[in-house]
Amino acid sequence: MSTKKDKLVIFDTTLRDGEQSPGASMTKEEKVRIARMLERMRVDVIEAGFAIASPGDFEAVQAVAEAVTESRVCSLARAVNGDIIRAGEALKKANASRIHTFIATSPIHMQYKLQMDPEDVLQQAVKAVKTARQFTDDVEFSLEDGSRSEPEFMYRIIEAVIAAGAGTINIPDTVGYGEPGEYGAMFRRVIESVPNSDKAIFSTHCHNDLGLAVANSLSAVMNGVRQVECTINGLGERAGNASLEEIVMAVQTRQDLYPVDTGIDTHHIVPTSRMVSSVTGFPVQPNKAIVGANAFAHESGIHQDGVLKHRETYEIMRAEDVGWGQNRLVLGKHSGRAAVRARYEELGITFSDGEEFRQVFLRFKDLADKKHEIFDEDLHSLVTLCETPSERFQLIDLDVRTKIGSAPQAFVRLSIDGEPHQIEAKGGGPVDATFKAIEHIVNSGADLKLYSVNAVTQGTDSQGSVTVRLEKDGRLVNGVGADTDILIASAQAYMDALNLLAISASKKQGV
Ligand code: KIV
Ligand code: ZN
Repeated sequence: MSTKKDKLVIFDTTLRDGEQSPGASMTKEEKVRIARMLERMRVDVIEAGFAIASPGDFEAVQAVAEAVTESRVCSLARAVNGDIIRAGEALKKANASRIHTFIATSPIHMQYKLQMDPEDVLQQAVKAVKTARQFTDDVEFSLEDGSRSEPEFMYRIIEAVIAAGAGTINIPDTVGYGEPGEYGAMFRRVIESVPNSDKAIFSTHCHNDLGLAVANSLSAVMNGVRQVECTINGLGERAGNASLEEIVMAVQTRQDLYPVDTGIDTHHIVPTSRMVSSVTGFPVQPNKAIVGANAFAHESGIHQDGVLKHRETYEIMRAEDVGWGQNRLVLGKHSGRAAVRARYEELGITFSDGEEFRQVFLRFKDLADKKHEIFDEDLHSLVTLCETPSERFQLIDLDVRTKIGSAPQAFVRLSIDGEPHQIEAKGGGPVDATFKAIEHIVNSGADLKLYSVNAVTQGTDSQGSVTVRLEKDGRLVNGVGADTDILIASAQAYMDALNLLAISASKKQGV
């Protein structure tokens, strides 16, 4: 006899909390591309941004609201009028919208951050929910730093905001302090103690400071929560948020245990993870559950033998169910425009105009000359490269020489605002020489915080995907580059980071 399971609402906040990771900011176009993937994955709610934060955030929420029809699109808003009105405006064209309003409820946040009395916080929360209801009938209320809030106060504020029209109540573990047993029990008590708790869905939102975000979220689910807020690859502030792929696959794999089911189409997990990684420049660690390159690789002879004899001896999930190794229609140098465009469409990527596709197709042809087989991962990286938002700094040429026993030397030609410059520099290694040459010309004054190279696909002809993180005046950016030549990819990534710094500097000056 099968018992009907409750629906677990998957609320993805990659585009909002995920974007709050230092250096992970995304352009409007990138957000739309990721949102389309999340929609294909059948994510229930997509938090597209924080509309009041900047004009760019507002436009991104608006663009996602227009592009997505199947998932509900949400904007974050503090519990103040200006934020809520801005969120409502950005969501106007959404097929289904949600306003997510929040205020801190822990003693430490109320006293030091808000400098408000609990009674005033309660009144402001109620007012915010009522205002939000004027824009949409789907309002979520979050008690920021909820896991460190006084239970009695939480019961009162939750009862009041439900009565004011909030349909979802989120109690975040904002600082990642919670422990699974304690956090789950907190939900059980809240649900039992709040008289109108049956009128709302309870939600969890966990940060990973102690590595417990997924465990805490799942414990909450075991204690009555029916919405999980999470991000692709666990991206998010500081140590990140609970990872969507881990939550979804835990629930799916342990159906014997969890009283819920998600509506997620898991086959899109790996392609979406790849897309988020290539857009943000945050590589996925090889041993990351579900989406890491080694997640399904059995190295030990005993494991391999067991898997060959009977797959379930060591495999609890099937790699293909989360999107590994499938949808890999291979394209190559003889593939025409129609085949390439059709594959992009199957991947959920559409182009706003012919020129945009022309640029991508040119890069495709260039890559196909160097690499026999082009995989979906390559197609994703080509789009990311074509979306460089500013062309202030452009790489024109790179010539690097290395010889055992002598210092590598790089010759770089680049343009700044269309003006060509060139120089030669030596370095400790070929990448060091390349970056030194670029810096001799540009003199950016930025600090290199991270340099990482990852193979986009398998094989020695793979493109290398490079991330360069630069910091200047407290601004952090991640530049990305990809090429079959990792020195060219490195130089591209450095130039991309310089362009992003230039954009963020002009935004700061209000240009
Ligand atoms: O971590 C947090 O508390 C948040 C809220 C705004 C939901 O991100
Ligand atoms: Zn958060």
